[in-house]
Parts: sequence; C-alpha cells; structure tokens
Amino acid sequence: MTRNPTFAILKDADLTEFRKILDNSGDVVDSSDDLEKYNRDWTGRYCGSATIALRPRTTEQVSRLLKYCNRRRLAVCPQGGNTGLVGGAVPVFDEIVLSMERLNRLINHDEVSGVLSAEAGCILETADNFVRERGFVMPLDLGAKGSCMLGGNVATNAGGLRVLRYGGLHGSVLGLRVVLADGTVLDGMGACRKDNTGYDYKQLFIGSEGTLGVITEVNIATPPLPQSTNVALFSVAIFEDIKRLFGQARRDLGEILSAFEFWDVESQKLLDMHFPDNKLPIRPGAFFVLVETSGSDSEHDQSKLMRFLEDSEAQVVDGTMAQDETQLRRLWALRESIPEACAREGIVYKYDVSLPTARMYDPVLALRSRLAHPAISQIIGYGHFGDGNIHVNVATQHYEAAVVAQIEPYIYELVRKHGGSISAEHGVGVLKAPQMGRFAKTAAEMALLRNIKTLFDPRGILNPYKVLP
Ligand code: FAD
Ligand code: MLT
Ligand code: ZN
Repeated sequence: MTRNPTFAILKDADLTEFRKILDNSGDVVDSSDDLEKYNRDWTGRYCGSATIALRPRTTEQVSRLLKYCNRRRLAVCPQGGNTGLVGGAVPVFDEIVLSMERLNRLINHDEVSGVLSAEAGCILETADNFVRERGFVMPLDLGAKGSCMLGGNVATNAGGLRVLRYGGLHGSVLGLRVVLADGTVLDGMGACRKDNTGYDYKQLFIGSEGTLGVITEVNIATPPLPQSTNVALFSVAIFEDIKRLFGQARRDLGEILSAFEFWDVESQKLLDMHFPDNKLPIRPGAFFVLVETSGSDSEHDQSKLMRFLEDSEAQVVDGTMAQDETQLRRLWALRESIPEACAREGIVYKYDVSLPTARMYDPVLALRSRLAHPAISQIIGYGHFGDGNIHVNVATQHYEAAVVAQIEPYIYELVRKHGGSISAEHGVGVLKAPQMGRFAKTAAEMALLRNIKTLFDPRGILNPYKVLP
C-alpha cells in the first residue's frame, strides 16, 4: 500500500493551531515514546507512524480540529481504547491520531428508561459499573471491557457476550452526537425508542469504523440488572453435541438463556499453558460450552436449569454449575482469556466469521489439514455459538508471509461458499479492506458504500485505507 499523496504533511504551523484549539499542552502528544501506544495495535501486527496524537475534551474541540484538518487535507485516525482487532484504530502512515480518551464523562442515567448518556471516551467497564450501581447493566460485554470505549464500541458495532440476550448495538443505541469530517456537528442525541422521522442516519455510524464521522456522545439503552444469574460449564465429545445442547438450552431455558459460548480443547490447552491458575473444573472433552442464564426469579430460573441439566446429561462428558460469584467469574474468565492466551504464543492471525451452525467448525478443520509450517503453534476455534460466530485463530511464533498465503483467501472463499460473513463482529479495518469487493459486497453495493463515504467525507480524510479499499 502507498501513502495517498493528496494528503498534506504536518507542519509546525499545524501544531501551533492544534495547541490553540486544545488550550492545554498535555492534550497534544508529540514525543515519540508517548506516541508508541497510539501507533501500535493490540495484535502487534499493525504499527503506524503518526507524529502527533490529539486528545480533545469537548465536541466543540473535535469540531474545530476536524474543520482545520479537512481544510488542510490532513488525514485523521480516530481512536478509542485501541483494542480493535482489524488494524482500524492505528494509522497506516502518518495520519493524525484523534484519541477520545479525554472525552470521557458519564453524563446521565435515566432511572425510568434506563438510557445512559455518556461521552465516547468512557471505558465500557466504567459505564457498566456506573449503571450497575443504579440497578441496570450495559447491553454489551466483551473481554476488552477494561480498555475499550463506548465510541469505539459503537464505531465497530461490537458484538460480544450478550448479543444473544440483548441484541446488537443497532437496537440499543438510541442517539449519537457525531462530528463530520468538515467539522459539522450532528446533534442526534435522541433518547426515544421510537422515531420514524425520515432516514435513521445514525445507523450508518454504527459500524462505520471511524470512516464517516467522529462519535463524541452516545445515548444507549441499558436493561435492568438481572436478579439471578447462573453459569454452567460443560464438556462434550463432538461438535454435533454443541448443536444438540444449544437446541436443548433454547427449549428448556427459553427467555432466561443469556449466553451460549464455546471453545475447543486446543483453546483450552492454551488456557492451561498461559493461565494455569484458573484450572478447568471438569473432565475435558473435545469442546467446552459455557451457558449463562439471567432472570428475575432465582427459584424459577433454578427449576428451569435443573430440567436443562437433566435433559442434557446424555449429550455431555462432564459439567459443573457455579455455586457463587467467585466460581461464576472463574468460569467466565476461562472463556474471556482465550484471546490473550492465544496472543501470548506470538503472532496471531484472526478470522472472525459467521457461518451456518452446521458449518461453523469447518474452517478450523480445513486449516488444520491444509496448514503445515513449523512456525504454527496452534489453530483454535472458539466464539459465540448462539450468534453463529466463530473465531478461528492461527497462532504462530513469528510473522510468516507463507502462512498467510496458505490461509488467505482460502478461508474467505470457504466462508463465502457457505453463505457466511468474513467479518462477524470485529469489522473490516485495514485487515479485510482488500477483501470487501471480492468476498463481502457486490459491485453495486461497493459503489453505494463509496457514495456514502464521499457524501460524509468528500476529501477522504477520516480513517483512510480502512474499510473501503
Ligand atoms: P478502537 O480499537 O480504538 O477503534 C476501533 C475502530 O473504531 C477504529 O476504526 C477507530 O477508528 C474507530 N473509532 C474508535 N472510536 C471512535 C469514535 N469515537 N468515533 C469514530 N470512530 C471511532 N469485539 C467484539 O465485537 N466482540 C468481542 O467479544 C470482542 N472481544 C474482544 C476481546 C479482546 C481481549 C480484545 C483485545 C478485543 C475484543 N474485541 C471484541 C474487539 C474490540 O474490543 C472491539 O472492537 C471494541 O468495540 C473496540 O473499541 P475501542 O474503544 O478499543 O476502539
Ligand atoms: C472474543 O469473542 O473473545 C473476541 O471477539 C476476541 C477475539 O476473538 O479475539
Ligand atoms: Zn467475539
């Protein structure tokens, strides 16, 4: 990839202007040591060369900064918690990093509607703790909750561990304040569940990965905190048993089923190696399934769970139920630590795909029989079974172009053949931008996406090289 030569090169006069707008010298980061964290992504695969990161504290500052950058044709990379997994949050070349970390106020929580108003730089876990104290819960949860930010969650349309229960962000996000590339502020902070006044343009920003506008504030509907939560862990012998167990869970648990996650024994081996303190409390099988229920009446939930445990006995190798909050957290920690356990192997090639459940594990088996390279330490599959979303991770000791060439585009072809999606929840970023026209969208769809981009950002300064090739 080459740098787009139409973008301007940063000058001293630009720095002077940024300092004037931000009005606090600490909000402009320009020392190379401090810039490392803004340039390098979580996976370690992508590293930009920004020479400046800007940390505005208000929407107005974001607006003035973008207006200036747009006029000067300076490219900008919006950044939240920098936990994205597709290289979207770090610059590709010298784009200016626009960090949301100082735009982080929790503004209001409405105790009747449950709507939380917060700035884009709020950490997801901070927001969750805040609403929990008030008897509510965030409608999304991810392993990266301690670092990822609400604006980043919206910009990636993050999925995670609660989609089965609360659905995706296209339903939970009720309002957004967004700054367009030319500095125009769209004040769309509606808090109504129902609003049919014309096109619902905010949906375009949900999942736009920083390419259409910078989200500065969010109104998000938070559901009541469940009064009774139970978590059970099972091991099963074959993948078909997961499917059977899921059907049983839906029938027996009905509306209290809140999560249905799975991982394979190869993922468990990485957990055993890198997180030996959190021991597997059951006999292993080829796969593991974590089932969570959330409801409002513990007696009612327990009786449903008991029926499920009896009905599922024939399908499982072993199983356990968390008896208290500590055990519940330890079971969830097994599932949530898999990405980190895999990352500790070295370099990880991550494939986050949707597939019909019958085909969900096919890519893992196919890659295992196809890939032979001494650098590969493990090929694992885990994910959100209830959402038809598997994460296929290939862990290697170091970067090997030969390994990538064996995986791509092969895996994308496989996914397309079975009617899946090459990005279920992590987005496109820089990683999958080249595949968009081949494996995700038709020519007519690509033309439409390009027109939308041009409409919102005619000079293309917002997160260039990402999403659209
Ligand atoms: P960043 O990584 O900073 O940015 C992501 C993208 O959004 C970039 O393109 C960036 O330009 C853009 N962006 C960020 N903030 C804004 C803004 N305010 N306005 C406009 N654009 C913006 N993802 C899932 O979907 N489900 C999971 O279960 C999940 N689990 C994870 C577990 C781990 C351990 C890790 C490391 C990541 C996981 N992720 C998951 C991926 C990632 O955490 C999510 O995509 C998250 O929503 C990104 O939020 P962030 O604040 O870190 O955004
Ligand atoms: C997960 O479900 O754990 C996340 O999407 C992160 C990942 O796949 O690495
Ligand atoms: Zn996931």
